[in-house]
Amino acid sequence: MENNSQPVIYFAPLQESTDFVYRKAHARHFGGIDKYFSPYLLVQKDGSLKKSHLRDTAMENCSGYPLVPQFMAGNSSDFIFLAKYLVESGYQELNWNLGCPYPMVTNKGMGAGLLPSPDKIREILDQSIPMVKGSISVKLRAGLASAAEVLEVVPVLNDYPISEIIVHPRIARQLYSGTPDHDLFKQLQGLVRPPLVYNGDLFTREDFEIAKGKFDPLHTWMIGRGLLRNPFLARELRGEQLPGRMEKARILEDFHQEILENYTTMLSGQGHLITRMTKFWEYFSFLFPNPHKSFKRVKKSVNLSKYEIAVRENFLQLRNEE
Ligand SMILES: Cc1cc2nc3c(=O)[nH]c(=O)nc-3n(C[C@H](O)[C@H](O)[C@H](O)COP(=O)(O)O)c2cc1C
Repeated sequence: MENNSQPVIYFAPLQESTDFVYRKAHARHFGGIDKYFSPYLLVQKDGSLKKSHLRDTAMENCSGYPLVPQFMAGNSSDFIFLAKYLVESGYQELNWNLGCPYPMVTNKGMGAGLLPSPDKIREILDQSIPMVKGSISVKLRAGLASAAEVLEVVPVLNDYPISEIIVHPRIARQLYSGTPDHDLFKQLQGLVRPPLVYNGDLFTREDFEIAKGKFDPLHTWMIGRGLLRNPFLARELRGEQLPGRMEKARILEDFHQEILENYTTMLSGQGHLITRMTKFWEYFSFLFPNPHKSFKRVKKSVNLSKYEIAVRENFLQLRNEE
């Protein structure tokens, strides 16, 4: 009999963390993810795409795991341009970002900046959907300034062949403060026509069980920071048997090594490399015996040999943990 209780788990897009290097290494060493989402692509002022964005979604860099590229567009011409580019690159599903909360984005009427304007969203979809071959999913917040906004946006999205709607039920103004609004999400379950996905603050098995209990029979979940902190989390939530402590440490070490080696080839200079790896440890240190101290040790590294010493010490402590 099919196991219907197994959750479907998506890895959320996080700029500067879940790039192609990270996603590939995660898929290889941990798995348990049904779809990875790329951080958003964007059309620049001069109409071009950033080299780093092109590289991040180039098929040759993203093979071996299911990827949904995300894009940001505040008008139909950007929407169509990006969607066409991504479909021509070989993707069948694309994700439209209606959730980015940062003012430099929202002030330009993109990301969560579109949420107070359901008519504009309708206009963009009206003009874009007939021009795009791939399927479109949408990731959104509860609103820019008020959670009432999503209630006006949902009826618009319901009118289009949107393949999935992923909701992080915080308003943009909150950024990451406060808690996700579970009551609002529950309300949306009765209003949203396409398949609905929950996103927000799932860090542990307990967080997941609470949300699962509240939103039953919801079966699809998107997780970001929880997976960066514990890359085994998806497998844990699926009820898979996890390796023992020493084997876990070995996998984490191999994962770290692969990422370090890839960034070493990609980035010029030790400074850039250490900045990048420090960002990685901001989350990765959570699995170590004293996360704060483990992170500090890495952050203090002034060169690569100091970094390597810090990392060795962190793994030593992980192996010796009782
Ligand atoms: C540093 C950072 C970068 C993010 N970048 C993106 C992004 O490019 N696109 C997007 O849709 N969401 C982005 N997000 C939001 C996450 O995808 C996710 O919705 C949010 O972190 C809540 O989920 P979580 O609690 O599981 O992390 C970002 C979040 C953070 C903290």
